[in-house]
Amino acid sequence: MTPHLTASAPADTHTAWWQDAVIYQVYPRSFADADGDGMGDLEGVRSRLPYLRDLGVDAVWLSPFYASPQADAGYDVADYRAIDPMFGTLHDADALIRDAHALGLRIIVDLVPNHSSDQHEWFKRALKEGPGSALRARYHFRPGRGENGELPPNDWESIFGGPAWTRTSGPDGEWYLHLFAPEQPDFNWEHPAVADEFRSILRFWLDMGVDGFRVDVAHGLVKAAGLPDIGGADQLKLLGNDVMPFFDQDGVHEIYRSWRRILAEYPGERIAVAEAWTPSADRTALYVRPDELHQAFNFQYLGAPWDAEALREVIDDSLAAMLPVGAPATWVLSNHDVTRHATRFANPSGLGTQLRTPGDRALGLRRARAATLLMLALPGSAYIYQGEELGLPDVTDLPDEVRQDPSFFRAEGQDGFRDGCRVPIPWTVDGSSYGFGSGGSWLPQPADWGKLSVEAQEGDSSSTLELYRSALAVRRTHPGLGRGTAVQWLEAPEGVLAFARDGFVCTVNLTADAVRMPVRGDVLLASGEVVRDGSEFELPGDTTVWWTM
Ligand code: NOJ
Repeated sequence: MTPHLTASAPADTHTAWWQDAVIYQVYPRSFADADGDGMGDLEGVRSRLPYLRDLGVDAVWLSPFYASPQADAGYDVADYRAIDPMFGTLHDADALIRDAHALGLRIIVDLVPNHSSDQHEWFKRALKEGPGSALRARYHFRPGRGENGELPPNDWESIFGGPAWTRTSGPDGEWYLHLFAPEQPDFNWEHPAVADEFRSILRFWLDMGVDGFRVDVAHGLVKAAGLPDIGGADQLKLLGNDVMPFFDQDGVHEIYRSWRRILAEYPGERIAVAEAWTPSADRTALYVRPDELHQAFNFQYLGAPWDAEALREVIDDSLAAMLPVGAPATWVLSNHDVTRHATRFANPSGLGTQLRTPGDRALGLRRARAATLLMLALPGSAYIYQGEELGLPDVTDLPDEVRQDPSFFRAEGQDGFRDGCRVPIPWTVDGSSYGFGSGGSWLPQPADWGKLSVEAQEGDSSSTLELYRSALAVRRTHPGLGRGTAVQWLEAPEGVLAFARDGFVCTVNLTADAVRMPVRGDVLLASGEVVRDGSEFELPGDTTVWWTM
């Protein structure tokens, strides 16, 4: 590959904490269970904050803990200002935020504005009040098509499979829109009461002291006028690749401009990060213009195969797309919706993000470690999903009867196997649910979970946990990491990526075979064994090395 500067970088002007932050995603159900009911909770998270401080992350993003019937693991919110009793109380949330701050950690909470739960007060009243009522106008209710209104109002499909409409059982027989499960009716964001309510919810949590929001389905809030048919297009294939009348509509940006003004009123650089699935990095960049949100997840990067050309292209595209809007690029390999990357990379590439096969686990782990060092060497902000620092694989053999992912139960759903990345994480070698809690775990843990536990890995310099700790420690002390907006590609053999940034070089061998390369300086950190031989070194297959120049 030829040397090439990704983009001409302006002087490093960054000051704000979030521009190069490493943000750790806690999935509260599966992190730590303090009350022994088999389900993680806020007290559990609080008890493990010192672990996260020692890991070296800057902020913690918590997936939803609000009052919810849990039809979609809390992404169906019944009360945006209350904690679900299974997770604790508002008092627990307050204590968690305070303790985190005392440890120098920031807290980001999940905000779910596209839809509520069907048990939300507004929706329950809307059902009762009937067609034409003020409450129905806050959602998308429509009469059906066909002679007796027996057909859905349009041809949209739910992301979880099946029609995106459910008919009410009342005599009027209206239908309501839900882009996800029927228990998750979509709000009508054209209605001023919806916008007002969310501005108030933002303030509620900002007043509680949170440092930011992860915005669920940020691309979905506004639907095209008239809710037009998509005309039989294969919606699931087009999602994220094409503009659909329910996603990535230009109207969403006005909402985020109003949120940015609220965030800016609060001290301490409060932020919002968009979960926005758009057709391109350029469309994603629109969500992070200077007067909108601060970051957007980089799903193009998450979906990239373990392949040098593909990764270099997505890195270049991501950096180039963010440059004009001045937002940091972000990098992510795993989250609660996709197969963990240790398992994705254990399988032949190109299989997508929902896998049911364990693949070659040793290979997957080796690549996952290398992928993490690559990610953490890139300029911008990086997201870590709980358990990836232990090298956890996806649990691909969960029996059907324990599965809870709502899309598993809806035919032809896109993401039916998300439970595999949500299995409670192991803290200890033995004991009830490997230290997750005293009362078992809501999804069964594999028999080898103890070997992967924090206890088993702590202090073992060859462990994945210690690799993450070292990487994050280096990132904190080495100015060349995280900051800036560009990488300088260096010449490298086929299948190898090499780039320089600010007195620092990262070399990644994405092939299975070792390659010989000139020594770059001193090894700072490596995901595998590196053998030096005079002025050359041997970079093993599927390995990343960080060098100081
Ligand atoms: C994205 C969330 O990450 C996912 O878990 C959820 O099912 C959907 N949004 C719907 O809220």
